[in-house]
Amino acid sequence: MNTLYTDNFSHITPAWSRIFNFVAERAEGSYIYTDDGKKLLDFTSGIGVTNTGHCHPKVVEAIREQAGLFLHAQINIVVHKPMLQLIEELRKVVPAPIDSFYFANSGAEAVENAIKIAKAVTGRQNVIVFNGSFHGRTHAAMALTTSKTIYRSGFAPLPSGIYVSPFPYAFNLGMTEEQASDYALNQLEYLLASQTSPKETAAILIETVLGEGGYVAPPKSFMKGLREICDKHGIMLILDEVQSGFGRTGKWFAFEHYDILPDIMTVAKGIASGMPLSGVFSRTDIMKKLETGSVGGTYGGNAIACAAGAATIRAMREEKMIENAADKGIQLMTGLRKLQEEYPQIGDVRGKGLMVGTEFIVDGKQAKAKQLVKDVIHSAEEKGLLLLSCGTYDNTLRWIPPLNVTTEQINDGLKIFSDSLKEVIK
Ligand SMILES: Cc1ncc(COP(=O)(O)O)c(C=O)c1O
Repeated sequence: MNTLYTDNFSHITPAWSRIFNFVAERAEGSYIYTDDGKKLLDFTSGIGVTNTGHCHPKVVEAIREQAGLFLHAQINIVVHKPMLQLIEELRKVVPAPIDSFYFANSGAEAVENAIKIAKAVTGRQNVIVFNGSFHGRTHAAMALTTSKTIYRSGFAPLPSGIYVSPFPYAFNLGMTEEQASDYALNQLEYLLASQTSPKETAAILIETVLGEGGYVAPPKSFMKGLREICDKHGIMLILDEVQSGFGRTGKWFAFEHYDILPDIMTVAKGIASGMPLSGVFSRTDIMKKLETGSVGGTYGGNAIACAAGAATIRAMREEKMIENAADKGIQLMTGLRKLQEEYPQIGDVRGKGLMVGTEFIVDGKQAKAKQLVKDVIHSAEEKGLLLLSCGTYDNTLRWIPPLNVTTEQINDGLKIFSDSLKEVIK
């Protein structure tokens, strides 16, 4: 290690958790290259961000070009071309009637704004979220987050007016999908009857596919039921597509698997291949009820981030990455299900497209599988594959390769995973 590392590494705040300790030198496509010469197959995509692969040439070119024109053109002062180009691309992929676009910098910021919009538009004060959700770490987003106590503990008092209902997590509940769906819808009705009346409920906020909380796609009947409850009571349905959006599940947005539309949706991560950009998208008739100036921020819709976003969507369309995500997702799930037959510790294999989870269980307990998953992650890293965990007990491995991953790379990932299971479980 040279002095750059020895002098500075320990000054990175220890408040940041870190899974691996290598230093990245460069990255390209599905691979990260470390400064000590290792090549790692990256199936984390920076937590579902670099969906076009690292440094996609079309995205890099768009960033370079825009950097030579201007870096920052503040939206309250000027409108810039990259934002208009991004909106033009978004209008090709975001289903109508969602036609009004607000930009911010992070997923948490998008969620905060979505909640503000729902409250202002309905004139109501409460929000319902689901157990196991992750919506970010800023103050209100933290209070909306129930995937792990670490995100809330020590930060009380949390913002109020937030009510939690069960997520239809069939494996966790020990139910079939349909039983879990019925149970969760009944509990939601019960919450609306017992704690937050519909006339006080501004929004129901849900991750279309539960991310940090365990990679769980809800049953279709549940999502349809949510839409009906919202329609019946004039409650805004906010779908958090920060992780599941932009092709991750084999459709542009995960809600397209469910034949429903949100009133408001939040996006970030995959929208700009790694540049900080997020969005709150809704209908003009909703957005125009907001007082002008009541939402905003200095950097929202940054010019370089917007240029990267427009190039990202163009590249995804031109190179058929959404179709590839659906196709490679089937290959990945098939391979993982074969391994499940060999290892009873893999309790569940689930997902949509390239948002896939393998949940581990030891002695019938999820919490007991935490160390096993940690060991598998480190064994895979030694063998050249980067994987992440998720779930309240960190007992689920999440598979998030880039959407242009190849058949060979999926096979390589499965082979390394199989070798790691052999090594760790023996
Ligand atoms: C579904 C979801 N919502 C919101 C967030 C928060 O995004 P950010 O970390 O960009 O604030 C995340 C981050 O992982 C997420 O997965």
